[in-house]
Order: sequence, then C-alpha cells, then structure tokens
Amino acid sequence: MSSSSSSSSSSDFSVDDLVRPNIRALTPYRCARDDYNTGVLLDANENAYGPVYLRANQSARAPSKEQGYHRYPDPLNNDVKALYTAWRGLPGPEWAFFGVGSDEAIDLVMRVFGVPGKHKVLICPPTYGMYSVAAAVNDLGVVKVPLDVENARFQLRVDAILEATRADPDIRIMFLCSPGNPTGTCLAKSDIRRLLESDYRGIVVVDEAYVDFVDDDEEKGSVIRWTERYPNLIVMQTLSKSFGLAAIRLGIAAASPRIIHWMNVTKAPYNIPAPTAALAYAALSSTGLESVQSVVRQLRAERKRLTDGLLALPGVLSVFGNADANFLLCQIGDAQGQGQPDSARAERIYRWMADSGVVVRYRGNEYGCAGCLRISVGTPEESDAVLAQLSKALADEKLAR
Ligand SMILES: Cc1ncc(COP(=O)(O)O)c(C=O)c1O
Repeated sequence: MSSSSSSSSSSDFSVDDLVRPNIRALTPYRCARDDYNTGVLLDANENAYGPVYLRANQSARAPSKEQGYHRYPDPLNNDVKALYTAWRGLPGPEWAFFGVGSDEAIDLVMRVFGVPGKHKVLICPPTYGMYSVAAAVNDLGVVKVPLDVENARFQLRVDAILEATRADPDIRIMFLCSPGNPTGTCLAKSDIRRLLESDYRGIVVVDEAYVDFVDDDEEKGSVIRWTERYPNLIVMQTLSKSFGLAAIRLGIAAASPRIIHWMNVTKAPYNIPAPTAALAYAALSSTGLESVQSVVRQLRAERKRLTDGLLALPGVLSVFGNADANFLLCQIGDAQGQGQPDSARAERIYRWMADSGVVVRYRGNEYGCAGCLRISVGTPEESDAVLAQLSKALADEKLAR
C-alpha cells in the first residue's frame, strides 16, 4: 500500500461525524445474555423444553435440545469473526460485522450513514442492482457515474467521481464493486486508492463478493487490509460465492472498529441464526478453507474452459470479465455477422435457453453490456449444457431476428 502523502488521513477523519444523528443518540438494545450466558437461563422468555415440533418429529435432520436451538443466538459471534479476521489478516473480531448476507450490510450502511430524503449514494453502472434498491428503500438519492466501458475496460472514472462528490456534498456513501457484477472485472486498486486519498469525506464501500475468484495479482486482489489505514473504508465479502453457502446468508463487512460499532448497535439484536454461525465456524476451519481453495481452483480452470468454448461459437462476439469472477459476460452478435452486439437476439436466446432448461441471465439492457448474457461458471457438465444449448440457439433462424 502506498504511504505517499494523502489528503485523507486517519488523523483528520472522524467516522462518528458521518453517523446519522438519531443513530448517534441511540440507546442500543441490550439483553441479559450480553453479560451472562450460562446457568439457569430464564431471562429471555425462551422455551426450556427445546425445539418442540422437532422433538415430536424426530428425523435425521432434526436438531436436538443440546444444539441449543431453543435459545436466542449469540448477538455478535466473536468466535466466528475471530476465525474470519485471522484468515483475512485483520487485527481481530472487532473489525468485522456479520449480516444476513452482504445485502443486509448494504442496507445497514445506508441506515447508519444516510439521512433519508437528504443524503445520496454514488454508484458506477453497470453494477450490482441492490445498491439502488436499498437506496430507494432508505429514501436516499442515487448519483450515477458510469464506468469507463470502452473496449469493455469496466474501470472507474476517478476524475468524474471526484467531480460529482465535489459538486454534491450530500453524497455520503459510494459503492464500488470489485470484481464487478455484471462486469466480472476487478477495479484497479490504484483508482480505489486515489478515491480514498482524495478530499472526499464520505464512506467508501468496496464490495468484494467475488474476490476469491481473482487470480493472484497484486494490482487486483482484496483491499480488505486497507481498512486499517482508511477509517472510512468498508469492505464487503460473503460466504455465498466461493464458500458455496448462499443459503445460510452470511455476509461480512470489514471496517475500522468504530464503523463496526455503529453497525452493531443499529442491527437487529440476533440477526445471525445459530445454524448459520455453526456452519460458518466449520467452513472457516483450516480444512474448510482448504476445501474452498480447492473448489476455487476447479472453478477457475472451468472458467477458462467455458471462455474458450464460448469464443469458439459462431455468433459470440466476445467474452468479457477478464477472468476475475465466477461468471462471464458473453456478448452475442447480430445474425448478419456484421460484428455488432445484438441485445434483442441475446434476449430471445436467453428465453429459449431458459425454456429448454439452461438458465443464464440476460444483461443486455445494462449500461455498456449490449448483447450480453451473464453466465455463472458451474460444473463441467453444466458448462457443456450451456455450450450445447447456446450453440443450438445461435444456429436457430427463428431466434436470429
Ligand atoms: C456484487 C454483489 N454483492 C453482494 C451480493 C449479495 O451477496 P449475499 O448473498 O452475501 O447477500 C451479490 C449477490 O449476487 C453480488 O453480486
């Protein structure tokens, strides 16, 4: 990380000043379990008989009373966070927030820092759709500074972003997605650093949902450890992608302990269910992490095979994504073969493929993604199915126009 002189240093930055006044004044919910969690526990109006329905319907999947599912779960899960932060090279559990997926963390950052009807978020299309949805729910305006999409570069336009933040001091939070969804492309770390070291005095969120799929490269990998240097940086990650645990809903926001404090006091007291925490704890064990690495290696190899297979199909103009995520952006060309992206054809192909049992995502209506289908990298059999169906669709006259 650069140690060059910066206009945003930790000494002149107070996160507390950015927190909404009503959150700053909040008396957080406290439970007796915050202080005492062993002994005869009659403080939380639980059912001491255990999971009653499950007792009456014993099956292999039914949890027993010993698993404690009749008790409210740990509000903070510091044991699980300690595993996570140690793995990511952060000082300790107070540097992590756990949410019900990153989606909860995205919403919560808006609730903590954005005054409804006043503040705004800045996003860089094409990007993850939930930033705008969460902004609408929280009554925050959205300022869009599109990525540089020329030649599918999909990079930040740093000067334009800074122009926007200088013109509008109500921009409180910016969301940068790296690797991007749907672009599948990492943002240059030097650009993220320029924003963090600029005169912008709001929150910078870097959403790294797909970061584990990035090939090892100093200029591309995670910026999670930069949270130790930049007090306004929040890095979001998730167990939904590389860990294959989308159903347990566990998202992570890493940031300076002051930001984590404000997120914790604002969240619902018991937001992470005990089964989720138990599964996450197991997934973060050394054997769990080794398995993640091994599957990520497989998916990266499959990504290469799928890319080559797609590029070999007549009618596929390009495959974007620079191999940074577990999906590819496949651009469909016009049926006349003039080398023009054809969104209408891509959409017809998408529907036909879905009806025939292979579901990908049509993204041709996103800025800079004309003619594009977003295709997740799955198993080799699934890639074969995509290639077979897409090949048929591209040869089908009825889908051509
Ligand atoms: C960029 C990005 N961020 C966040 C999420 C949401 O992740 P989670 O499952 O942790 O809510 C997604 C899901 O697709 C995503 O693409």
